[in-house]
Amino acid sequence: MPIEDIQALVAPGMRAVNAFIYNRLRSDVALVNELGNYIVAAGGKRLRPALVLLSAQAFGYAGPHHIELAAVIEFIHTATLLHDDVVDGSELRRGRKTANHLWGNEASVLVGDFLYSRSFQMMVEVRSLRVMEILANATNTIAEGEVMQLMHCHDPDTTEERYLEVIRCKTAKLFEAAAEIGAVLGEIGSAGEQAMARYGAHLGIAFQLIDDVLDYRASAEEMGKNVGDDLEEGKPTLPLIHSMRHGTPTQVALLREAVLTGGRDHLPKVMEAIERNGSIAYTAELARTEAAKAVAALQGLPSSVYRNALEGLAGFAVHRHS
Ligand code: IPE
Ligand code: IPE
Ligand code: MG
Ligand code: MG
Repeated sequence: MPIEDIQALVAPGMRAVNAFIYNRLRSDVALVNELGNYIVAAGGKRLRPALVLLSAQAFGYAGPHHIELAAVIEFIHTATLLHDDVVDGSELRRGRKTANHLWGNEASVLVGDFLYSRSFQMMVEVRSLRVMEILANATNTIAEGEVMQLMHCHDPDTTEERYLEVIRCKTAKLFEAAAEIGAVLGEIGSAGEQAMARYGAHLGIAFQLIDDVLDYRASAEEMGKNVGDDLEEGKPTLPLIHSMRHGTPTQVALLREAVLTGGRDHLPKVMEAIERNGSIAYTAELARTEAAKAVAALQGLPSSVYRNALEGLAGFAVHRHS
């Protein structure tokens, strides 16, 4: 199913999610409102909340908690973006200047904390210990993933295995939680929950692999983020790791130097090297494999338009340009 059809399918639910998000964004503190509204109003693809809705609906759940929990997931995602842009020193997000660029690092970190803690207030209202367990574990794992990534920055010896562990934690875990929560709401039993968790985890890995391709490939206009942010931070993502393994000695020396020092000076040559060594193709191929595994995890689901949409999301994760 193409992304436009998926969006149309979830549109009524997403309108309710959006209303809920704005409602719960409110605070008596002016800066929280200002900065929070700024990043939320910039939009984003809203993939994770859509995943909660689709997963719940695939099991016949009719609400109302899927709406609230979709908003919770988007709050957590938004908090991680505020923090991530500080850590990565990024200046463009969702086609706009980042919050850290406009209001400074302190404000971004603190409003990120507000969103995190607000998401916990919201999830408690649903009164499901299982859901709280999933989300508490997910947020903790995301934090570990971001810290692990920090430890690998400027380390040219980072292995593919370590890289995959980082993206499993920092990105795939929230996709996993979103898909799993839908299954929990649908009350389908633990085998079904595990299948949905697997779907979400593979989808999330595919999604981040493509994000790391787009960081070298897309344009800022398409992506709404600056190209080359990963290299600037000396972040050893898979295109670089693959190229350091398969490049000529000259290329390998250049790539190692680029990771060690960071910055954008080496960007054109790095882009040329990863293209020539087939490192973009290798990363994209791994993303396709992960997307196929995500689809395979859906096998036991009853066929429905929602299952088709979940399959479509896996396709979108690998074919997207933004
Ligand atoms: C960005 O996620 C962070 C990653 C895990 C790569 P999205 O690409 O889903 O961000 P928005 O919400 O659409 O802006
Ligand atoms: C995803 O990694 C970060 C989170 C999971 C918060 P990136 O650093 O690649 O995300 P972008 O590219 O800034 O959106
Ligand atoms: Mg980033
Ligand atoms: Mg990125």
